[in-house]
Amino acid sequence: MKFGVIGAGQMGGGIAQVAAQSGFDVVVQDVKQEFLDRGRAVIEKSLAKLHEKGRLTDTPDVILGRMEFKTDLNAFADCDLVVEAIVENEGVKADLFRQLGQIVKPEGVLASNTSSIPITALASASGRPERFIGMHFMNPVPLMQLVEVIRGYSTSDETAQFVTQTAERMGKTPLACNDFPGFVSNRILMPMLNEAIQCVMEGVAEPEAIDGIMKLGMNHPMGPLTLADFIGLDTCLAIMEVLHRGLGDDKYRPSPLLRKMVQAGLLGRKSGQGFYTY
Ligand code: NAI
Repeated sequence: MKFGVIGAGQMGGGIAQVAAQSGFDVVVQDVKQEFLDRGRAVIEKSLAKLHEKGRLTDTPDVILGRMEFKTDLNAFADCDLVVEAIVENEGVKADLFRQLGQIVKPEGVLASNTSSIPITALASASGRPERFIGMHFMNPVPLMQLVEVIRGYSTSDETAQFVTQTAERMGKTPLACNDFPGFVSNRILMPMLNEAIQCVMEGVAEPEAIDGIMKLGMNHPMGPLTLADFIGLDTCLAIMEVLHRGLGDDKYRPSPLLRKMVQAGLLGRKSGQGFYTY
């Protein structure tokens, strides 16, 4: 099976790595060679670590040998499945799927790793809504078990089954849901992160205390501000905007502090500064 991944950032790189670890031939695409080089370096480091711990069935070289890194979208023409993991922006994703719908062989399945954007809208843009689905991996992909599988309005049973089986072949646990804003994971998670940010803005407590209270008090593995930095504050803001627009209720309003930090270029771990310094 040939597996395509669009975007060599934290999610795309992780998805591509796990696909190659699972024995698939993988092609990864990004808009610039330097983004591909950076993505490949992260994958190499992760594979070396997993190898050291004895958690790989093949050597890193064999796994990397299954991967191709390209800037040209035409590299996806003969893919059986293409998973998109680019910026969380509906217009940009829809444009991409409009092009992909023309490039990928007609029987190929297209999937989005979007955190919150309507699958049905992206499916329409692709021109093959029955072979379109949400395949939402969790960060970091090599370590996290879940894949949230989101059916769009027209997704066929065959497509849902194919993607479910593929997630299982990647060693993941797929769980199904329907296409509503934020699906299940981010509809529940993101308002909590947003509320933690609101607590910082209102001076309820210092970031370390907020994270410590949620870790020790709720037994969460990571505090909400650490998690927001890890996800990327730009991505958090984009998801809150989708929830607010899609569900209407004021409880989904993005915290003004979140908006301001994104405007200032403080995006969390990936920019070196968010609620903490990296
Ligand atoms: P990122 O910023 O780390 O990576 C995005 C990559 O996409 C960059 O390398 C960028 O150059 C590339 N890109 C942008 N436009 C492109 C285009 N038109 N064609 C090809 N490549 C393009 O972002 P991240 O965190 O990997 O997020 C990607 C997607 O995954 C988003 O939709 C996000 O909502 C979703 N997601 C993010 C999670 C997280 O924890 N960060 C978790 C689950 C889903």
